[in-house]
Amino acid sequence: MRIVLLGPPGSGKGTQAKFLENNFGLKHLSTGELLRLSISEKTEVGKAVADIINSGQLVSDDLIIELVADRIEKLDDKVGFVLDGCPRTKGQAEALEVMLTVKNTNLDLVIQMAVDNDQIVKRISGRINCTNCGASYHTEFNKPKIGNVCDFCGGTSFERREDDSEGAVRRRLDVYEKETAPLIHFYKNRGILQSVDAIAPVNEVSRQLGALIANHTS
Ligand code: AP5
Repeated sequence: MRIVLLGPPGSGKGTQAKFLENNFGLKHLSTGELLRLSISEKTEVGKAVADIINSGQLVSDDLIIELVADRIEKLDDKVGFVLDGCPRTKGQAEALEVMLTVKNTNLDLVIQMAVDNDQIVKRISGRINCTNCGASYHTEFNKPKIGNVCDFCGGTSFERREDDSEGAVRRRLDVYEKETAPLIHFYKNRGILQSVDAIAPVNEVSRQLGALIANHTS
């Protein structure tokens, strides 16, 4: 199963991609996480993209396409994936189609995470991420199950993202509307677009996603 989660910043893509990885055996590929890793490791890519990301702009299509092509190329064909944060532009969507065609495959589902801007601001302002594995939590809506221990890796240190400042979030929302929202029509035309109510609580969104996958595979 090959899935794209499509939604604005804070819609819950990362949270639900981790759920799909743990419950459906899909490999979670997050371009945001890969880029943040390259920043923390101070690689050449990291140095080149840090200011772009922290100001809420998009990294170039060329760099993202190279990053994703490399990950998809290395994946075992029998393992499905869930893409979180990519594609974000028409150029990336078209390049992804080419990559998958070369592997004699294609996307099964693109799932739109529908949420409104008020909810996004509340979510991002309370977000904390596990310093070790990047898993997202919320200080009010989505706490780790046990105290301050990450549900996924057992890490005990949490941090706020640099691009979660008010100005950067506003820019990320503008960029989403201009560059990424048009992909909803792109995938509707391909006949693979589905949608979940991403305003619902985390468990309910997970249930809706599970139902879409079950429906697709039955
Ligand atoms: P990226 O890391 O992809 O960020 P994003 O798309 O802005 O999305 P977020 O990670 O902010 O939110 P999310 O939807 O994953 O929500 P989350 O699950 O954390 O990209 C960062 C930057 O990298 C970009 O701005 C760009 O510069 C660059 N980049 C990345 N990919 C790129 C690409 N393809 N092309 C070009 N540039 C690229 O949840 C948010 C909060 O809400 C958390 O606190 C969570 O606990 C909480 N929450 C989640 N679900 C619920 C719920 N149902 N109810 C209540 N709270 C919830």
